[in-house]
Amino acid sequence: MKILVTGGTGYIGSHTCVELLQNGYEVVVFDNLYNSKIEVVDKIEEITGKKIAFYKADMLDKESMRPVFEEHNFDAVIHFAGLKAVGESVAKPHFYYQNNITGTLNLCELMNEYGCKRMIFSSSATVYGDPTQIPITEECPKGQCTNPYGWTKSMLEQILTDIQKADEEWSVVLLRYFNPIGAHESGLLGESPNGIPNNLMPYIMQVAVGKLPELGVFGDDYDTPDGTGVRDYIHVVDLARGHVNAVEKVTSTNATNIYNLGTGNGYSVLDIVKAFEEANGVKIPYSIKPRRAGDIATCYADPKKAKEELGWEAQYDLRRMCQDSWHFAKQNF
Ligand code: NAD
Ligand code: UD1
Repeated sequence: MKILVTGGTGYIGSHTCVELLQNGYEVVVFDNLYNSKIEVVDKIEEITGKKIAFYKADMLDKESMRPVFEEHNFDAVIHFAGLKAVGESVAKPHFYYQNNITGTLNLCELMNEYGCKRMIFSSSATVYGDPTQIPITEECPKGQCTNPYGWTKSMLEQILTDIQKADEEWSVVLLRYFNPIGAHESGLLGESPNGIPNNLMPYIMQVAVGKLPELGVFGDDYDTPDGTGVRDYIHVVDLARGHVNAVEKVTSTNATNIYNLGTGNGYSVLDIVKAFEEANGVKIPYSIKPRRAGDIATCYADPKKAKEELGWEAQYDLRRMCQDSWHFAKQNF
């Protein structure tokens, strides 16, 4: 089977390419390299010993994507390409709505034109807003997002659902990721955000390598066991494996299916600091800061549906996530 991976040089996309190749799939990638580097292609090939076809293409320029569809017949598309920085999306909403929504509509038009109507889409637990129930099942209603990035995910879920409803040749899998961290065990693939990171684990790694003096913990007065925010951190390789299982689903049904990809475990900010210190023998100084606007107290998944219907569950524990994150950071930061 041949899979198109959009955004395949990015953090989650690159790990997914590795898992697809190791499971016998042919992989074609396009990316505009806005937030990733072309060297990632070599790294994927080095890890797997297999070749991928790479195209530099931008979703906003439909004709730049056309050669990808002219030259290949795809069994499915895994759609990672998009902008994901929450703070930037608040400052530049037009840029985010245009890139993520117009870009995806352009992609869907080409998929229709070339008769490839199966898509796995990268969504996020952010679509639940402040969840009405913990752990969060897929039955939980979608909520109010606190930023334009989140709304692009929520709106694209609706758009793809409607496209599938109107044309039953379409098949859509919406994957709602919880908090991906970690890196490939080789240390060749991982996440290296530009500038000062917003997310917890990238920030901790900057402190660990000595580039930032201390971690600010955003609030210690939440209604959680130690007062700091609780999240469902999931190893990026586990997340990537979930996509391989989702390929089987999207190629065998004509429907819209939604799955949470999380571990089902909630860890607080201070749990993460402690786990990182213990796993790696590195001290992470921190101080308590005010709450960050838009944050919620607790967010973790009920991952049962993915286990029952996709045959997938996360395998790596928090210690392993911390070790692999640090292994990557030491080599690349
Ligand atoms: P990433 O930024 O590392 O990867 C996204 C890739 O898309 C980048 O390589 C970027 O260059 C590319 N891209 C962006 N706009 C493009 C365009 N117009 N045309 C072509 N390529 C374009 O991000 P990631 O962490 O790997 O996330 C992948 C997907 O998963 C994104 O859609 C993201 O919103 C979603 N997601 C991520 C997280 C997370 O915590 N990392 C959580 C939930 C959902
Ligand atoms: C954030 C986004 C979410 C996005 C996800 C992945 C917000 C409100 N949510 O989720 O939309 O899908 O990233 O990109 O931005 N923390 C600190 N100090 C820090 C950084 C984080 O204490 O320097 C805390 C946060 O308050 C939170 C936890 O660590 O309790 C995790 O934060 P983060 O990694 O940013 O993820 P989310 O907020 O869950």
